[in-house]
Amino acid sequence: MRVTMGTQDFFAGLWNNYVEVAPQAARIHQVFTARDERIVNDHVAFRTYDRYPLNIATLEPLILALGYRRHEPYEFADKGLSAWSYLPADPGDPRIFLSELRVDTLSLRARNIITGLAEQVDVATVNSSDVFRAGRLWTTPTWDAYQTLLSESEYAAWVSVMGLRPNHFTISVNALRHSPDLHDVVQILKAHGFPINASGGEIKGSPETLLEQASTLADRMMIEFADGDYHEVPTCYYEFALRYRDTDGQLYQGFVAASANRLFDSTRA
Ligand code: NI
Repeated sequence: MRVTMGTQDFFAGLWNNYVEVAPQAARIHQVFTARDERIVNDHVAFRTYDRYPLNIATLEPLILALGYRRHEPYEFADKGLSAWSYLPADPGDPRIFLSELRVDTLSLRARNIITGLAEQVDVATVNSSDVFRAGRLWTTPTWDAYQTLLSESEYAAWVSVMGLRPNHFTISVNALRHSPDLHDVVQILKAHGFPINASGGEIKGSPETLLEQASTLADRMMIEFADGDYHEVPTCYYEFALRYRDTDGQLYQGFVAASANRLFDSTRA
């Protein structure tokens, strides 16, 4: 039996949360809508720490309860990240990509900061899929603590201020009517002034890896840190994915670790 009830509300809630901190996404959506494009989400991605109750093991049942099933695990050794991808019960729904930072790869000082954030989380809030748009479930770190995290892991610093929320939505280039080529999509974005993540080249992956991706650079917003200082931090970005068919004619469903590794840089401070 398919369990698709609730995914429409789930993704609508995520989208509203996302465009609040990434207004570029609403503008890009408009650019493509104005071109009479059909916008379908390829995947939505989340970032977290491997500390209870924020870890994948705790969050995953909430994704499975939406009818999703586990697809593949991924490792990003140089960034200290592990991830899982999930496939929807309804093929019209986006895939979900959930990564977590292996906090033990950081220094004791950074570990202590993150443990302090995780300890503030009210476990009762981690019992429904609403938690994926809860944002920060702890008090804002100090600017000093943020800088400590940033010096070791851009990802660690990002989660400390942004909390649990979509890190990015991803437009399926396959579903576009008029721009079925990722190079064209990148040119449209540039023509409208959206900066593109050029880490490892504007287009990550190739037809040979069965997945090509590109992304904008994250928007930025002012955050009030615990000591009362305001500083600008990167928020969220928009991604684009073009999937190819394998030799059996099946559309590739996975992710390419080398490409994802570069896409993580879209929130570089
Ligand atoms: Ni992605």
